[in-house]
Amino acid sequence: MGKIKIIYNRETCIGAAACAAMDPKYFEMDSEGKAVLKGAKEIDGKFILEIDDNDDTYQAAESCPVRAIKLINLESGEEII
Ligand code: F3S
Repeated sequence: MGKIKIIYNRETCIGAAACAAMDPKYFEMDSEGKAVLKGAKEIDGKFILEIDDNDDTYQAAESCPVRAIKLINLESGEEII
C-alpha cells in the first residue's frame, strides 16, 4: 500500500457531498454545506492531508462533480486524480 496526498480546494467545493458519502473517514460536511477534510493542514487556501492509499478516497475524489479533490502519489509525485 502506497501513500497519497489529498489536496482539497474548499473554494471550488459546491457542497455536492459525494465525498462525505464515499469516504466518511476523511470527509464530512460542515454547517456552511461545504466539505471538511478531517485533520488537514491549510496551505495557501488548500487543505492537505497525507494518508495510506485506499479505494474509498479514490471514489470520493472521482465522484466530486467539480474536481475539488485531487490525489497525488507521494512516491512518484504523479497526479492520480
Ligand atoms: Fe464538495 Fe465535491 Fe465533496 S463539491 S462536498 S468536495 S463531492
